[in-house]
Amino acid sequence: MINLKVELGDNSYPIFIGEKIFDKLSETLSLYDFSKKIVLVTDSDIYKIYGDLIERGFAGFVELLDIIVVPSGEKSKSFAGVDQIISRMLELQCDRNVAVIAFGGGVVGDLAGFAAAIYKRGVNYIQVPTTLLAQVDSSVGGKTGINHALGKNLIGSFHQPKLVWSDLDFLNSLPEKEIRSGLGEIIKYGVIWDEKLFSFLEENINSVFELDMDSIAYLVKRSCEIKAEVVAQDEREFGLRMILNFGHTIGHGIEAEMGYKILSHGEAVLVGMLAESKIALEMELLSQIEFERIANLISIFNLKKKLKINPDSVLEFMQSDKKALEGKLRFALPTQIGKVEVFDNVSNDQVRRSINYVIKH
Ligand SMILES: NC(=O)c1ccc[n+]([C@@H]2O[C@H](COP(=O)([O-])OP(=O)(O)OC[C@H]3O[C@@H](n4cnc5c(N)ncnc54)[C@H](O)[C@@H]3O)[C@@H](O)[C@H]2O)c1
Ligand SMILES: [Zn+2]
Repeated sequence: MINLKVELGDNSYPIFIGEKIFDKLSETLSLYDFSKKIVLVTDSDIYKIYGDLIERGFAGFVELLDIIVVPSGEKSKSFAGVDQIISRMLELQCDRNVAVIAFGGGVVGDLAGFAAAIYKRGVNYIQVPTTLLAQVDSSVGGKTGINHALGKNLIGSFHQPKLVWSDLDFLNSLPEKEIRSGLGEIIKYGVIWDEKLFSFLEENINSVFELDMDSIAYLVKRSCEIKAEVVAQDEREFGLRMILNFGHTIGHGIEAEMGYKILSHGEAVLVGMLAESKIALEMELLSQIEFERIANLISIFNLKKKLKINPDSVLEFMQSDKKALEGKLRFALPTQIGKVEVFDNVSNDQVRRSINYVIKH
């Protein structure tokens, strides 16, 4: 089992990564000072597949395991979802030592993490990520939250988990689209931080698509190490953490313009990374050769045929995005593979040109 650490002083926590490790979680939890009441939050699709495994995994270790099942999908990241969890915890008279387990993808992680952040001013929670995106990104770093009618992730809190327990075996039941989504974020880590990770993906992308577990273990480990390092340096996104937004400034605009349909989050980020790399090329920050390496890797995902977007409305959505700073858009742009810098001097025309480019290429 791989064991990493997110260094955040008193809020430091371990990340465990391995194959078929879920049945060892309850034993590890018994080493912590948690009450014997466990509240586990999951979604309806995951519960269908893993309900029995969850029950078996805790048998004999806890006095009470209460499983809260929310509907699968982004809509559960809502006040109603938080109400469902918190009301149940109050009914169960959970005290402040309760452990909330988020068993699922980023939706369950963000929702259950937020409920844990505000229940009785904050209780323990544990991330058990079951999607590739959650294993490489959303389960680490302590951003929790829900959506509002006016936008995604507008309500939330920084609340770090007590541990992250990543069982790679869960990925075997994940639809291919969700694997591609997680890969979008992994490619992002390569471009912003680690050229070696990027060349590993160039050389091994086929075995990664086939879920070769040695490759996947390396990718999850390396991605978590990078995210942990960035978060340790800048937990609340005052500076360095903004580099994790590479591909997201335009990616979020594309997701919003497409109504969060057809493209998954990671796929929108892939398109966003291509567009933002094109801006970096135009601004002469990035060389032609490095741009082509990024473009070639992203082209394997064949996303052009799914892209039905109007550059002007993508730009409008981007401007209303919460990351817009006093009307100016911020971009993390690659200066070489493995390095990005943050810029706020990109013109609307450059953004439009880059979106037109990705529509055609
Ligand atoms: N907190 C953060 O730092 C952070 C970072 C990135 C993304 N996010 C959030 O994460 C969410 C997206 O997360 P996601 O991509 O994991 O989506 P998700 O949680 O909706 O999961 C995707 C789908 O896969 C299903 N699923 C999950 N695990 C499965 C498994 N092992 N086998 C079969 N099906 C499974 C789910 O039921 C769902 O239908 C967004 O809401 C986004 O805002 C948060
Ligand atoms: Zn993302």
